[in-house]
Amino acid sequence: MAPSTYRIATIDDLPALRHVIARAIAELQADFLTPAQVAASALTMGLDTQLIRDGTYFIIERDAQIAGCGGWSFRSTLYGGDDSIVTREPEQLNPATDAARVRAMYTHPDHTRCGIGRQILGLCEEAARAAGFHKTEMMATLAGEPLYRACGYLPIEQVMSAPIDGISVPLIRMGKQLTA
Ligand SMILES: CC(C)(COP(=O)(O)OP(=O)(O)OC[C@H]1O[C@@H](n2cnc3c(N)ncnc32)[C@H](O)[C@@H]1OP(=O)(O)O)[C@@H](O)C(=O)NCCC(=O)NCCS
Repeated sequence: MAPSTYRIATIDDLPALRHVIARAIAELQADFLTPAQVAASALTMGLDTQLIRDGTYFIIERDAQIAGCGGWSFRSTLYGGDDSIVTREPEQLNPATDAARVRAMYTHPDHTRCGIGRQILGLCEEAARAAGFHKTEMMATLAGEPLYRACGYLPIEQVMSAPIDGISVPLIRMGKQLTA
């Protein structure tokens, strides 16, 4: 297997990122959701480009191709992509009391179950810890839940997304205490 490298994403990566993200949403959620729920989630997931502007979005590459991506945030937005988020430049969290956000985790369907999601999550936690945070949280999809559980996250609450054309998608808010 080709070795992987990681780097911080830039705006120039957006076309390639959007391609990988669309494939991950469509193909990797099929075992967890109905086709209608997958279609509904595609309208609310995706990438919040605030993460790229903040320099907190990672890319893992193999053979110079994006194998996975994901990021963290010191801002209050918990989930959603550019098409579903209305607040721009959302407020900054307090690292002493708030949980840093883990955001927009996607693995290219050709590279699943190789540890890429786990590696990106580790990079996010390390960066959040370096920024002074003591805990992390995300709004997990059902497809993401097994990864997060495997990495020590516990469920906080189960929610249903706001319906789109009558279709809601189950989500799980999950969190983890970061060790020093
Ligand atoms: C969730 C996602 C990022 C996982 O990526 P990944 O790179 O395949 O995950 P990893 O290889 O790092 O998995 C690490 C561990 O998580 C668990 N895991 C990950 N995917 C799993 C799955 N589909 N079923 C069961 N366990 C899974 C396993 O314990 C795995 O370890 P193992 O392979 O040694 O058994 C990927 O499936 C994805 O892009 N899904 C669609 C988009 C999405 O829903 N993202 C989450 C948004 S909150």
